[in-house]
Formats: sequence, C-alpha cells, structure tokens
Amino acid sequence: MSVPGYLRADTVTKAFKVRRKGDGLGLQSASLRAVDDVSLDIARGEVFAIVGESGSGKTTLANLLARVTVPSQGRILLGGEEISRERGLDLRSLRRQIQIVFQDPGSSLNPRQTVGEIVALPLKLAGMRGRGDRARRIAELLEAVHLPPDFAQRYPVSLSGGQKQRVNIARALALEPQVLVLDEPTSALDVSVQARILALLMSLKRERGLTYVLVTHNFGVVRAIADRVAVMYFGKIVEVGTIDQLMTDPQHPYTRTLLSAIPAVRESDRALIPEIEVRDGELPSFVDPPRHCSFYSRCPSRQPQCLERTHPALAELPGGRKVSCHLAAPVEGD
Ligand SMILES: Nc1ncnc2c1ncn2[C@@H]1O[C@H](COP(=O)(O)OP(=O)(O)OP(=O)(O)O)[C@@H](O)[C@H]1O
Ligand SMILES: [Mg+2]
Repeated sequence: MSVPGYLRADTVTKAFKVRRKGDGLGLQSASLRAVDDVSLDIARGEVFAIVGESGSGKTTLANLLARVTVPSQGRILLGGEEISRERGLDLRSLRRQIQIVFQDPGSSLNPRQTVGEIVALPLKLAGMRGRGDRARRIAELLEAVHLPPDFAQRYPVSLSGGQKQRVNIARALALEPQVLVLDEPTSALDVSVQARILALLMSLKRERGLTYVLVTHNFGVVRAIADRVAVMYFGKIVEVGTIDQLMTDPQHPYTRTLLSAIPAVRESDRALIPEIEVRDGELPSFVDPPRHCSFYSRCPSRQPQCLERTHPALAELPGGRKVSCHLAAPVEGD
C-alpha cells in the first residue's frame, strides 16, 4: 500500500441551514454542522471505512469526498489537487476519477430506463457516441458485476435488491474510475446477498486497483474488508486507525461500544472486546452543540474533567492511530 495522502479531507465542514423554534413566535434559521472540521487521509488502493450510527454524518462526508456536494469550509484533495469546488468540464473529468454508489440501491435507478440505458448514461455523457461501442461496453460492465447480458433489456422493477446494487456498481465503473465511494452498499440487503456483493467488490478492487471509501454502520463488514477505519460520532471523527488497532485495542469509549455490539464470529475474538453499552443519555443538539466532549452524555467512562474541558482534539497515539478522548493514553514522552 502506498503512503496516505491520495484522497484527503482537510478541515472539512458541511453546515446545513435548518429552521427551528425560536424563543418567541415563529421559526428561526439555524445552522446544523453535519460534518464538523473533519480531516482524513486515504491511501491509494486502500479500503477505508467510515463507521458510526445513524445521523453521525457518514453520508454527508461521503458526498463531500465524491464531490456530490461542496464543503462549507475546508477542502477535499485528490492526488494533491483540490477537487471540492470543481465545476463544468473539470467536474466532468473528476467524475472519471471518483464515483459514488448511493445508500439506497432502488431509488438511485430510474424506473423508466432499462438497465442498459442506466449503465450507458455515463458513457453517453462522456461522449461515447457509437451505439455498437456502447452496447459492447454495457455487456462488459454487466459481465464484470456477474449479471447476464440480457439484463440490459430489463427494468429495475424486475430486479432483486442485490441485482439492483450490481447495476449501481456497473454504472459506477462505466468510466473506469480510480476511487469508489460506497455508501452502505449492502445494508439494505439480506445477509447472504450482502456477503456476495462484498466479495464482488473485493474482486473488482483487486482486478482494477481501486481505492474504496466504504460507509457502513456495520463493524462486521468493516472487519471483513477494510484496511483502516474512521469512527464518526456527531459529525466528527473520534478515532481512526487500522482494523487491527481498533479491533484489538479500541481507545475511544464509543469505538468500544460499537465493537461490543457486533456478533462475535469466534469466542477468541469475543474475549478481546469488552462488554460495554452506551449510557441512555440524549444525543447532543446538532444546532447547539456542547462545548465539552460531544460523547459525554452517553459515555460509559466519563470523568468530571470531561465536562470541564472543551471537545478533545483528534490526537495521534503511538502507531499512528488517532483518537479524540481526554482519557486516551497520551503519546509517549508527552
Ligand atoms: N440536506 C440536509 N439538510 C439538513 N440536514 C441534513 C441534510 N442532510 C443531512 N442532514 C442532517 O445531518 C446529519 C447527518 O446526516 P447523514 O445523512 O450524513 O448521517 P448518516 O451517518 O449517513 O446516517 P444514516 O446511517 O442514517 O444514513 C443528520 O442530523 C441529518 O438530519
Ligand atoms: Mg447515510
């Protein structure tokens, strides 16, 4: 694996305008920071996972990394070039490099188009004019995702969830991108179908030398295929490191609770994962975030000092892993 720095998020924030009840009558406009000051460094050829519970900002971050949306602050870089504000032709050439597979396999397919038309659309937009060329490419792409060639004539309504997701993957591969951002690619599918789609993704990655950003709330999926993982809570990254680092020695209390929730495949694994649960505390308000650690209200290990200090910075520990917790072991010599 090459050094990190291929796909980077540099202090990225995405704020949405929302309306909420004000003190008086009527609604006030407020700002919700769905992704809050996130920095990430993804290596070429890596499977980089982003995990966290519903609402933690995973999809918002995935959309920023794939330049589906533009950050409110900060930058996204690919190969050292800023891509976060590309438009027009530059955006078109970026689409050849990064593609996204969206969270819901069904709703991202136009029900009035055949599978062939769906997969051909990026080819048409990229200027592939000849019908014969496009038909050949569609057949290749369907074969790559293990769908029979006659699926080109079928409509999404006649496909199973797993087949729809294969069509989404085929469309994403049409322009031979280097990076795929996969937003919960298997979470809407049955477990056995999930395993087959993950196996397909892994063989495509090997054949094509792809880089994956894999968004999931499922640590089991992460353990199966990721190299490194970032844990998100409430719009921020609270821990990032290799799978081994996080599985064998999770430092953030939230990472520990996520790990203790996954079904153990082997008893020997189980012993590594402490049994803990999050407190019943409320999630903090996105619009009025606390100054102290945002996990405080639900943290099973919290200390009085955590309430007195501001939200902890994401600090590096030995081995290159980073954690944002006042209670984590400091770097040696600190
Ligand atoms: N367009 C938007 N306008 C306003 N708020 C938004 C918008 N998109 C997302 N949010 C809010 O941002 C927060 C993060 O949402 P996001 O969809 O990124 O979470 P997620 O981690 O992907 O959740 P899930 O696991 O349910 O998919 C949520 O509070 C959500 O309501
Ligand atoms: Mg999401």
